[in-house]
Amino acid sequence: MESLNNLINQTIESIDWNKRPENLYQPIEYILSQGGKRIRPNLCLMACQMFGGQTQEALIPAIAFEMLHNFTLIHDDIMDKAALRRGKETIYKKWNTNIAILSGDALFAKAFEYLLSYQGNGKEDLLRLLTKTSIEICEGQQYDLDFEQCEHVDIEQYLNMIRLKTSVMLAACLQAGAIVAKADHNAQNLIYQFGIKIGLAFQIQDDFLDVYADVKKFGKQVGGDIAENKKTYMLLQLMNSTDTQDKQLLYHYMNDNLDKEDKYVKVKALYDKYQIGDMANQVINTYFEEALKFLTQINVPEDNKNDLLHFANKLMNRDY
Ligand code: IPE
Ligand code: IPE
Ligand code: MG
Ligand code: MG
Ligand code: MG
Repeated sequence: MESLNNLINQTIESIDWNKRPENLYQPIEYILSQGGKRIRPNLCLMACQMFGGQTQEALIPAIAFEMLHNFTLIHDDIMDKAALRRGKETIYKKWNTNIAILSGDALFAKAFEYLLSYQGNGKEDLLRLLTKTSIEICEGQQYDLDFEQCEHVDIEQYLNMIRLKTSVMLAACLQAGAIVAKADHNAQNLIYQFGIKIGLAFQIQDDFLDVYADVKKFGKQVGGDIAENKKTYMLLQLMNSTDTQDKQLLYHYMNDNLDKEDKYVKVKALYDKYQIGDMANQVINTYFEEALKFLTQINVPEDNKNDLLHFANKLMNRDY
């Protein structure tokens, strides 16, 4: 698996961003060279392998999706007012918001340009998948922003939001690997559904880590979601769990202009009191179990599933 990561990183490094204007391309190189977990290209390559394809064949779609992912992060950090990512200053902080908008736009288009260079099986399907996924992520991100202003969001609405903003990309990467390996439609659908469930677990875990992670490992500032009144799994569960008095306190923290650090400490104390972290971890496990049911149904030699299983397991137990 290390070798897949090397392949991904070497391919990304080999892309020449030394172009002008520098203020457009430097931020792109900056974010792509930071690494990150490279989950999406790994999923794409592993799915391809699982269905009997060669990893090399899936490299172009894998990197195209990683480009799309990094584009979403550039714009997400503007929207979420996040100063830190992967332990480094975010692009809109290091340069400025206009540069972050524009370099994001360019990277978004580059993902498609990159995929256009693919010569293997299912090119049009892959392009359609990248397109559909891009649109759905925008839908999810808009719900995420809309919900900041809503006092009440139910769990169903939340799940739909994270399915769109996070799950569909993981699912699409897996399906892309399956397309390259010429898997049939039923198999493509099963691996897609596996990705959707893994994605739900993954985003709930991200919500958990936004409260409880160690900044040094996580690479992002903790408490960002609390500051922005994000309707995370943590917050919705807290709203469902608090007694009347604590609920009033919570609404007070959310509606008054408290100092950011103060607000974080107070809301976190409520998460501790009602053991919301444990609830989050339970539901993460539930979605992981549901994901595995889809993987079980896929008709390939069981050994072929090992790498993907191992990778998914590691993801579920991450602290960054
Ligand atoms: C961050 O994704 C955005 C979410 C969907 C939570 P990752 O946690 O995969 O980010 P990197 O690429 O590893 O930095
Ligand atoms: C991630 O949601 C969704 C996308 C980037 C599309 P978050 O806003 O929670 O991601 P992080 O925590 O900033 O990485
Ligand atoms: Mg966000
Ligand atoms: Mg964010
Ligand atoms: Mg987050």
